Amino acid sequence: MKTGEVKILAFDTSCDETSVAVVQGRKVLSKVRFSQVNLHAQWGGVVPAIARRAHQETIGTVYEEALRKAKCQIDEVDYIAVTYGPGLAIDLEVGVEFAKNLALRYSKPLIPVNHMEGHLLSSLALNSKGNGFISEAKLKTIFPALGLLVSGKHTELIYVKGFGEYKKLGQTLDDAAGEAFDKVGRMLNFGYPGGPVVSEFAKRGTLGVIDLPIPMEKSKDLNFSYSGLKTACLYKIKVLRESRLSEKDWVYDFCRSFVESVTQSLLIKLEMALEMHPEIKTVLVGGGVIANEHILRALGKVTKLRNKDYFYPLAEDRGDNAAMIGVAAYYNFKQNIILKSDSDINSLERNPRLSL
Ligand code: KG4
Ligand code: ZN
Repeated sequence: MKTGEVKILAFDTSCDETSVAVVQGRKVLSKVRFSQVNLHAQWGGVVPAIARRAHQETIGTVYEEALRKAKCQIDEVDYIAVTYGPGLAIDLEVGVEFAKNLALRYSKPLIPVNHMEGHLLSSLALNSKGNGFISEAKLKTIFPALGLLVSGKHTELIYVKGFGEYKKLGQTLDDAAGEAFDKVGRMLNFGYPGGPVVSEFAKRGTLGVIDLPIPMEKSKDLNFSYSGLKTACLYKIKVLRESRLSEKDWVYDFCRSFVESVTQSLLIKLEMALEMHPEIKTVLVGGGVIANEHILRALGKVTKLRNKDYFYPLAEDRGDNAAMIGVAAYYNFKQNIILKSDSDINSLERNPRLSL
């Protein structure tokens, strides 16, 4: 006989990570990820067709490994969950097809998950021992919350009234913050993905030496924009390269200023959102760029100064992973967002432009 919370087997193939996890409630029993970074590095970015082939080649192994690590057989899984958007169409497709086939073959209901809901709820994950940042008691008092999602393709502020009750307050009008990190990394010949290298270099730099604009500093809404900063970086780098200075004399300071511009742009909008919605009790952050500890801490400081709770995912769960998809699936399950019949399961299709 089964005891405790439901077990969910979750898949994410939205971009360049083939990832599978087993969760029980919001407890993560196992998470396995095959990163394709090395396959894409030589192209300077994710090549969807290469990613698709790699997903196809590895998903079976990653799935078996996730079950093995969770000490769980497929028969013991109650639900299958899968990211169906947003993401790269032909890559999402691999996970969706694999999950649909499993669901049909083993007669398991299927839970479709929005990848951004995964990032939003990533700080709710508990480890396999049931420990995490948000206790069950706390969870009852976190709403209304504000989600700030900062990833490679998205930069958005979400008003969270409760699970499944989301309203987008602002988003990027052009590039996402992560994209700007990667593009600046590329300008500096850091390879792909450049974002983490920019963050590392910034730690050795001094603030205030190089002047860069703060995106949307004076805008009156909650939107973001990073293409102007990107262009400013391009010009600044050109000028610096034409100067008598050697690159090692300015590159750290440059990265430090860039990180500060992104940090300030996020802080300004976070503060504005909290000002506009004083009833918000909690800020939930997620997404790959939150891996930058300076950004993570700066956002936390502003949040706590306003007497709000601040929650963020474990370092290993800030980028794409299936554990967060399992956690989001658990809350979808609680709201009965479940595909049960074969025809409903069959009709699930990837939705690359899915939005919260
Ligand atoms: O959330 P994520 O893994 O994937 C998307 O859903 O997009 O975010 C990936 C983004 C990339 O742009 C990557 O450069 C950025 O997160 N990133 C970082 C760091 N680690 C990953 N950016 C700044 N500092 C980091 N340490
Ligand atoms: Zn993501």
